[in-house]
Amino acid sequence: MNVILLGPPGSGKGTQAKRLEERYGIRHLATGDMFRAVTASGSELGLRVKSIMDSGQLVPDDITIEMLAARIGEPDCRGGFILDGFPRTVPQAEALDAMLAQRHLGLNHVILIEVDDAALIDRLSGRFTCARCGASYHERYNRPRFEGVCDVCGSREFIHRLDDRPEAVAARFQVYRRQTEPILPSYRERGILRVVDGMAGIDEVTQQIEMILGPVSPA
Ligand code: AP5
Ligand code: MG
Ligand code: ZN
Repeated sequence: MNVILLGPPGSGKGTQAKRLEERYGIRHLATGDMFRAVTASGSELGLRVKSIMDSGQLVPDDITIEMLAARIGEPDCRGGFILDGFPRTVPQAEALDAMLAQRHLGLNHVILIEVDDAALIDRLSGRFTCARCGASYHERYNRPRFEGVCDVCGSREFIHRLDDRPEAVAARFQVYRRQTEPILPSYRERGILRVVDGMAGIDEVTQQIEMILGPVSPA
């Protein structure tokens, strides 16, 4: 099963994708997490990507498409994947269609998580993330099970993303409206776009998505 999770910054894509990966055994592929790993390498490309990300703009399509195409070709993606943060522009959506066609793969569902702007700002301003695995937490809505320890990987180091500062958040919202929303009509026309109410609590959003994806198929 191949799925795209779409939604504005802070809508809960990463939070939900981590749960779906565990439940359905399909790989969570987040281009934002991949780019954050590139920036941590300190390479020349890493420095360039970091300054783009910190300002809330998009990394150029050619770099992004090449990185994702290489990733979905790896063996651990054969059982299916959940895309989080890709595609984000019309050329990326077209490139994805071509990549899937070339590999004789289909797209089962495109799920849009809808959340009001005020709630997005509240979520991003209270977010902290695991420095090792990128898992997202929130000061009020989603604390780790054991204080100070990441639920997913056990790390004790957390960071606040630089692009969660108000100036960068404003830029990210604008980029989403201008560059990402235009990919929606094509999925709507193909009948694969489903919308979930992301204003609900985290567990309830997971339930809505599971209703769409259906029961876990036996291995
Ligand atoms: P990326 O990392 O993809 O960021 P984003 O799309 O802005 O989304 P976020 O990760 O901020 O939010 P999310 O939807 O994952 O929400 P989360 O689950 O954390 O991209 C970052 C940058 O990388 C881009 O700006 C760009 O520069 C570059 N990039 C990435 N992909 C690219 C591409 N394809 N092309 C070009 N450039 C690219 O949840 C948010 C908070 O809310 C958390 O605190 C969480 O605990 C809380 N929360 C979640 N759900 C709920 C709920 N239901 N109720 C209450 N709180 C909740
Ligand atoms: Mg995310
Ligand atoms: Zn972690």
